[in-house]
Amino acid sequence: MGTTLQVEHLTVQVATSGGAQTIVDDVSFRIEAGKVLALVGESGSGKSMTCTAIMRMLADNARISKGRVLLEGDDLVGKMPREMQHIRSRKVGMVLQDAMGSLNPLFTIGSQLGEVIDGNRAAVRERAVQLMKRVGISAPEDRLDAYPHQLSGGMRQRISIAINIARNPALLIADEPTTALDATVQLQILSLLRRLQRENAMAMLLVTHDLGVVARFCDRVAIMYAGRIVEEGPVDGIFASPMHPYTRALIDAVPRLDALPERLAVIAGQAPSFKDKLPGCSFAPRCPMVQDRCRQLAPPWTAAGERAAACWLATQVVP
Ligand SMILES: Nc1ncnc2c1ncn2[C@@H]1O[C@H](COP(=O)(O)OP(=O)(O)OP(=O)(O)O)[C@@H](O)[C@H]1O
Ligand SMILES: [Mg+2]
Repeated sequence: MGTTLQVEHLTVQVATSGGAQTIVDDVSFRIEAGKVLALVGESGSGKSMTCTAIMRMLADNARISKGRVLLEGDDLVGKMPREMQHIRSRKVGMVLQDAMGSLNPLFTIGSQLGEVIDGNRAAVRERAVQLMKRVGISAPEDRLDAYPHQLSGGMRQRISIAINIARNPALLIADEPTTALDATVQLQILSLLRRLQRENAMAMLLVTHDLGVVARFCDRVAIMYAGRIVEEGPVDGIFASPMHPYTRALIDAVPRLDALPERLAVIAGQAPSFKDKLPGCSFAPRCPMVQDRCRQLAPPWTAAGERAAACWLATQVVP
């Protein structure tokens, strides 16, 4: 069906009192139409920063210093703010962890849905009700006049999803969309996202801490460590035989992949600080398979069929 999102060498720097720090470091991946890519990694690895850079919604002290973000072949990096606003409202949806942050507490659900629907009053109302049904809200007519705080967290997230898919975007970015919800609601919301994404043939970038979610709801997975993608490929292949020791450590730390969602288990050692970046592989200080060269030279990105990893060991497997 073609590539919806292609991120190439995306690099994001933030200005700090100690100079520019690279937070997202040469990140590349692509998402085909109708597919879900999971972006996984420890807290602080740069997942949200990657999402906000794609949307061109970085904080004032952050900027894209390198790379391209091709949405249906069109590079977003050079776009003017007004153009970006248009693209965000038509072509990209974004669902965040806490729907309270994306909904306006002062306006009713009906009026917020109305913002993304064109037409006269009756048509807007009808379409709003239709959208609410589509995201699994019962008695939608009764909820049109409700304010966000009158709804449960799960219901709010459904409304936020309805608003974000109303215009059939090509791409949906969901940054830990269920972290704030309890386990059963999490699964309902993820199933909903997966269903809508399939029905509309949207490409979806799903940020999650949870490898159970990756296994159940995603097609491919990109593993992020200290601002870099260290491994990327189809979910089945990566779970069956990870190429990168960090991926292996993550998988080994999960008791059972088909168990209910768990947070990413803790791996021995400290996640690296962005301040004192090492010359070699960032994972070297924690890696059980570390070799001398890992500390000196960053490993090359090594492809093997559908999969690729940045690890010196992977280069031994694949010449
Ligand atoms: N505006 C900013 N200025 C300076 N540093 C920032 C800024 N935004 C984020 N950072 C830093 O960039 C790093 C990556 O942050 P990011 O929010 O992308 O992590 P994350 O992978 O989404 O983590 P989490 O799983 O906790 O959401 C962190 O060290 C964070 O402190
Ligand atoms: Mg985040």
